Amino acid sequence: MSGGDNLDFEIRPHPAPVAPAQRTAMLANPGFGQIFTDHMVTIRYADGKGWYDPRVEARAPIPMDPASAVLHYAQEIFEGLKAYTTPDGGVAMFRPDANAARFAASAQRMAMPAVPTGMFLESLRQIIRIDRQWLPQIEDGSLYLRPFAFASEVFLGVRPAREYLYLVIASPAGAYFSGGLKPVTLWVSPDYTRAAPGGTGAAKCGGNYAAGLAAQAEAIEHGCDQVVYLDAVERTYIDELGGMNVFFVLDDGTLVTPPLTGTILPGITRESVIKLAEKAGRRVEERKVSFEEWRTGAASGRIREAFACGTAAVITPIGTVRFPDGEFTVADGDTGPVTGALRQELVDIQRGRAADPFGWVHRVI
Ligand code: PLP
Ligand code: COI
Repeated sequence: MSGGDNLDFEIRPHPAPVAPAQRTAMLANPGFGQIFTDHMVTIRYADGKGWYDPRVEARAPIPMDPASAVLHYAQEIFEGLKAYTTPDGGVAMFRPDANAARFAASAQRMAMPAVPTGMFLESLRQIIRIDRQWLPQIEDGSLYLRPFAFASEVFLGVRPAREYLYLVIASPAGAYFSGGLKPVTLWVSPDYTRAAPGGTGAAKCGGNYAAGLAAQAEAIEHGCDQVVYLDAVERTYIDELGGMNVFFVLDDGTLVTPPLTGTILPGITRESVIKLAEKAGRRVEERKVSFEEWRTGAASGRIREAFACGTAAVITPIGTVRFPDGEFTVADGDTGPVTGALRQELVDIQRGRAADPFGWVHRVI
């Protein structure tokens, strides 16, 4: 078989799935990333053979040789997207083709083989079909899909591996932040940066998150929910959060967001917000915003609102911004009207409750 689209998945249903009553109890308050469905997708890759042996099987630990390359050199990438129950009881994914494209771009940056788009999309459809009972029927509930791939070759030399494993797991989810839609508090790290020009900031690789954990721990120590990173060169401009992009709302209604210069993740939610805002005639600027502009703008009223956006966080208002010398508050620490309206508009499209002008919603069931 070549490295093409092998869509012939072997399906081995779980011999002992979670009992319906227990599943219902688990789905009542799933939180984020804590519970998982019964199945997973696995596909293997070897140089010269391409992707092979696509399967849907019981979710289970994966045997790993201690010399598997990923355990040493972190050659790993992942994606995150959500499936939602539609008003008529079906299931749809939001912009999975955009995740497929970003997964391929991340693969290229990490010297890994790309998963063909058709195979990526089919792997998501497969897990949704077999685990559809795991969609939580609660407000803000969704099935978070986590496709990922890593170097499975048993070899300690430093070069791109010749064998990989691609998997998809699924995790029923509620709100990412335990406060729900309450504005989050951010920590501006004085010491740590996330990504430098030429680095891996635009790739969704596990290493970026590992490198951010010390900063995230510092944020938590200071009573904050997330880190907001400054650019690594001048330590002046806002890049993004540990797991979300950031937008500012000016007093004239303009949206401002840092540009995609290679150091931030090109968020699919970010792009969706830009498209929706522009369609509604709102001005959007992709430009650098300094920490100083934010601090003084929040004080003067020029920057009225700020929000974080991403698949897990959807659109989450930013309340307080804390740094070693002090803190300031955006929008009086409330959810601003523009943030609230954009969130509602996006969520309604994602959940099939509003028209889908850009063809973002992919029906699975
Ligand atoms: N930035 C980082 C570092 C992220 O981890 C995420 C989440 O995936 C985002 C931004 C937002 O990306 P998306 O909207 O595609 O989920
Ligand atoms: C996502 O939104 O999918 C992410 O990967 C962010 C992570 C913090 C959960």
